[in-house]
Amino acid sequence: MPETGAIEFDPQALSEAPDPYPTFARLRAEHPVHYSPERDLWVVSRYEDVRRVLLDAETFASGKGTVPTGFVAVKPMLITQDPPYHTHLRSAVHLAFTPRRMAKLDAFIRRVTRELLDSIDPSAETDLFEALTDPLPVAVITELLGVGIEDRKAFSLHAGAVIHANAGAGPTAAEGIEWIYRYLENVLPEREARPGDDLVSRLLHPGEGEPRLSHDEVVGFCALLLMAGTETTTNALGNAIVALHERPQIRQRLAEQPAGLPRAIEECLRFESPVPGLSRVATRDVEIHGRKIPEGARIHMAFAAANRDEQVFRNGETFDPERSPNPHLAFSLGIHFCLGASLARTELRIALEELLARFPRYRVVAERAVRLRSDAARGYSFLPIVAAP
Ligand code: HEM
Repeated sequence: MPETGAIEFDPQALSEAPDPYPTFARLRAEHPVHYSPERDLWVVSRYEDVRRVLLDAETFASGKGTVPTGFVAVKPMLITQDPPYHTHLRSAVHLAFTPRRMAKLDAFIRRVTRELLDSIDPSAETDLFEALTDPLPVAVITELLGVGIEDRKAFSLHAGAVIHANAGAGPTAAEGIEWIYRYLENVLPEREARPGDDLVSRLLHPGEGEPRLSHDEVVGFCALLLMAGTETTTNALGNAIVALHERPQIRQRLAEQPAGLPRAIEECLRFESPVPGLSRVATRDVEIHGRKIPEGARIHMAFAAANRDEQVFRNGETFDPERSPNPHLAFSLGIHFCLGASLARTELRIALEELLARFPRYRVVAERAVRLRSDAARGYSFLPIVAAP
């Protein structure tokens, strides 16, 4: 039997905690391989160990799910596949996910951000989750896919259900994904019959000699984009807005010199990682720091802990908007490295540029903000602010 560590590792409690970082520091220092009997997870928290797991996809597989519950969607999804099938899927979607297509979204992102900010009453309290951080990423992904979104709230609820797997409230992960499949099944026939210039049409109609995806594979990929591309960015944006509110001098400097934003955004992603951890399953017996992890065990990579590892990040517990280099793992690494990283960075930059230009002194009503309770996400589901106090 594996020995029980002195720390209780509950990913949900940690994602909801205002300051889980002392626990992460203890894990790194005292229990670099920590077995959590409550969740049957082997937790690695040091940067080099997380990196090792990410870069060895043969030993540490994704096929049995990457959230701690091991939830795997019915239709094939890139994120829970292993080579060689993952390689095939990724090369097919890569062709549609081009820098040119992403760049075309810049003007759209700015326009939607401005419209959303227009609707804020500067002197009243506004829930920024409702007003900005939730609708913007949803609008961007639906624009990318070329689908209209009639019921954003229902959509966010179901996408969230899959990501917050095991949160206990609202639809289950399986119900959430079923809802998204049904939604996509309704729009695909139209694109099959009359292809446009959108990503779905491109996936359904590959060029000569390009890999062809099945109908189910296209649905699976679009469903993944709708989940992986929305909640994550919502949380990243909310976390960044709170981090800057807590540091008014840095915020003021960035409002005056927005050229500093890309670097500051990397620091936000490192400092409050929106995906604090994901898991893999060992395909063979493996040993890390002298601890034997059996084949079939679930290994949890605590990105949020690794991203503050002093061995890699000097003054890792300090927010440094000019940190460089900043090799954080918020977007993962290796074969599953986030396909939407550059799009997410663009969204964050434009949203923060516009927010800081319009409301440079916004105040977060921190005592009433509500954090998500989630196995695989850290962010806010209610983010009250006064835009111009
Ligand atoms: C700040 C926002 C985001 C964060 C923090 C984030 C984080 C991540 C992480 C940690 C993974 C790796 C999963 C693993 O290693 O098992 C991932 C994969 C992925 N992300 Fe993102 N993501 C973000 C935004 C986006 C956006 C905007 C999109 C789409 C437009 C997207 C699409 C994907 C896809 C398709 C994968 C799967 C890649 C694969 O398995 O090969 N993500 N993301």
